[in-house]
Amino acid sequence: MTRVQELFDLSGQVAVLTGVASGIGKASAHMLSDAGATIVGGDIDESGAQATADEITSGSGTAVVQRVDVTKRADVDALVDRAQTEFGRVDIMGNIAGIPHNKMVADCTDEEFERLLAINLKSVFYGCQAAIRHMIPQGSGNIVNISSGAIDTPAPTLACYGMTKAAVAMLTKTLATEVGRHGIRVNAIAPGMILTNFSRHNFTDADGNVVPEKLEQYHKRAGAMAPLGRAGEAEDVARSFLYLVSEAAAFVTGQIERPNGGVSMPW
Ligand SMILES: NC(=O)c1ccc[n+]([C@@H]2O[C@H](COP(=O)([O-])OP(=O)(O)OC[C@H]3O[C@@H](n4cnc5c(N)ncnc54)[C@H](O)[C@@H]3O)[C@@H](O)[C@H]2O)c1
Repeated sequence: MTRVQELFDLSGQVAVLTGVASGIGKASAHMLSDAGATIVGGDIDESGAQATADEITSGSGTAVVQRVDVTKRADVDALVDRAQTEFGRVDIMGNIAGIPHNKMVADCTDEEFERLLAINLKSVFYGCQAAIRHMIPQGSGNIVNISSGAIDTPAPTLACYGMTKAAVAMLTKTLATEVGRHGIRVNAIAPGMILTNFSRHNFTDADGNVVPEKLEQYHKRAGAMAPLGRAGEAEDVARSFLYLVSEAAAFVTGQIERPNGGVSMPW
């Protein structure tokens, strides 16, 4: 193995990830497993999470998954504790699970707002706390939280979602200042427009079927904003994830990485 390959080698490391049933979480589980990490994954979609684990273990990887509702602290704690009890370490924590929300401020209900706060923000707080409980005594660790490009530019209908993701960015930067002395790095990823189930409502009909004209429009919209001329794939984000947890990013903490095709998010 060359020195450069060693920088991205995660052999012997244990990665806890939420949201592994789909999209960015699933792609990150595959990417980290390909780099040698053992995956301990959680998702509210248990069968989807199991499918990801089966894909990994049908190759040469190691992955276990369980049902986790990230709004429940006990579920998040149980996931992280499983990594410690079953594999003896918690090297990587990826707080990835999240949901979209597109409504004008005037129309957002209390129930919607509370749900967004619980799934997109409180879950990340729970995940960070659970991870550092293991990482501080270990004296090392990497946390990656998924924020969003929506934190960069205000746009109609994105206030509630953007608020949760801006708070995730602030949590990330602040926690980095607290745990750096324990050898723990904390970074966030703020993806641009990525083609996953999360963004499907933009190009599907009421029954969830893809409408080709809508999909073409979505690509055009993304391409018009991004200098690289396309919407992103989940794997584009997973690559950023791998970089941040790798030794290539050994001096990187408290940062917001932006895999977005170069867009400055002028919606
Ligand atoms: N796709 C994009 O364009 C985009 C852009 C910016 C940020 N993001 C963020 O990326 C993250 C991943 O999104 P994605 O695009 O992969 O979407 P996705 O819908 O493909 O995956 C999200 C996963 O989270 C899981 N999840 C939802 N609620 C949960 C809960 N309560 N407990 C446990 N798991 C739960 C879902 O079951 C799903 O597997 C989210 O935090 C999202 O906000 C996505």
